[in-house]
Amino acid sequence: MAELLICGGDVVFADRVEKADILVAGGKIAKIGKNLRAEGAEKIDAKGKTVFPGLIDMHVHLREPGFEYKEDIASGSAAAVAGGFTQICCMPNTDPVCDNAAVVGYIAARAKQTGLCKVHPIGAITKGEKGETLAEMGKMKEAGAVAVSDDGKPVMNARIMRLAMEYASDFGLICLSHCEDKDLVDGGVVNEGYNSTLAGLKGIPRAAEEIMLSREIILAETLNKRVHICHVSTKGGVQLLREAKARGVRVTAETCPHYFTLTDDVITSFDANTKVNPPIREAEDVEAIKAGLKDGTLDCIVTDHAPHHEDEKNVEYNLAAFGISGIETSFPLSYTYLVRGGVMGLCELAEKMSAAPARILSLEGGRIAEGETADLMIADLNEKFTIDSNKFVSKGKNTPFDGMQVYGKVCCTIVDGEVKFRA
Ligand code: DOR
Ligand code: ZN
Ligand code: ZN
Repeated sequence: MAELLICGGDVVFADRVEKADILVAGGKIAKIGKNLRAEGAEKIDAKGKTVFPGLIDMHVHLREPGFEYKEDIASGSAAAVAGGFTQICCMPNTDPVCDNAAVVGYIAARAKQTGLCKVHPIGAITKGEKGETLAEMGKMKEAGAVAVSDDGKPVMNARIMRLAMEYASDFGLICLSHCEDKDLVDGGVVNEGYNSTLAGLKGIPRAAEEIMLSREIILAETLNKRVHICHVSTKGGVQLLREAKARGVRVTAETCPHYFTLTDDVITSFDANTKVNPPIREAEDVEAIKAGLKDGTLDCIVTDHAPHHEDEKNVEYNLAAFGISGIETSFPLSYTYLVRGGVMGLCELAEKMSAAPARILSLEGGRIAEGETADLMIADLNEKFTIDSNKFVSKGKNTPFDGMQVYGKVCCTIVDGEVKFRA
């Protein structure tokens, strides 16, 4: 395998940012130091740029099998490396649902053929994501599943969820919970509040998320099992998690860029690209999400990359699909709002976007150190650019961030020591 020498970049280590050269050999980080030399190695000039551990997104929707018109494993992987991601974990709400070893194996094989980033399938908690009977977690784990989730839907039955947490743990898996009380949502499409009233759109109360989040905390606490909470969007949710963690409950949680960058003022445009589940909330929620990221209540940032076809978004707000195509905007949005916005530093950002997801799912990578796998991302943090969905690699152009000016351009993505993306 060819050697790579990444020269002169500001390298983001777990505890410091330092100028260093990185020699990559045999797919690993062979050496880190000053003025490294390597005869015959391909040289990458990273002067003025920043070298991050390859980003890891533990929550994406790749839509294959079944909805390849929205995205497929090849297009989603290409979008991922364009966004600086070296590993992604894909949710099982495909058709057929990824609820058995055959579908898990299919996704893993397609990803390998594609050969861009590492793709880890997530198996369903229940057969067909119907919330009734548990899927075969052990067999899915053997086939390569890294976690289980019914994402896209809640597991409404608490008895099933309790069983799921117990079984998952027996197989060394963790349940990722999409927290949503369907009865409280009752057909809502946006956050319930002033703007939903103003727009005449049916609201989704915060309680729909928080009640389920409370249930998961109670189950995890009484069973002494792990649980991971998907896409936290509310102030109350952050507080519930903060208190649970203080008690020692084995709960981890994620949020997404749209929950710390936007308020539901955006819905009054009636642009269906702002429609996402859970919905974009209000200013006090945005502040609480940022505080939760800062104090460690929220462990990581995921995209919940949910590509949809234009025909599913270019319709009346009530009829549009929920979801944002987010994998190519996650890094610049997070860098711009969190680092430039003064919430955290670069080491903390790398923790949220790489080290923490690796830890939660026991994946390789997540940090830059000698001997680690050479999953790296190089960004130009000073480059200011305008988000343009027409330039997305993803098939899904559905973003509420079109036209927004951001900093932090992904220049190069390296997976197992091989350059998989160059801007
Ligand atoms: O907005 C969303 N889109 N939320 C979900 O939970 C599912 C996702 C999708 O699959 O489109
Ligand atoms: Zn979800
Ligand atoms: Zn999702």
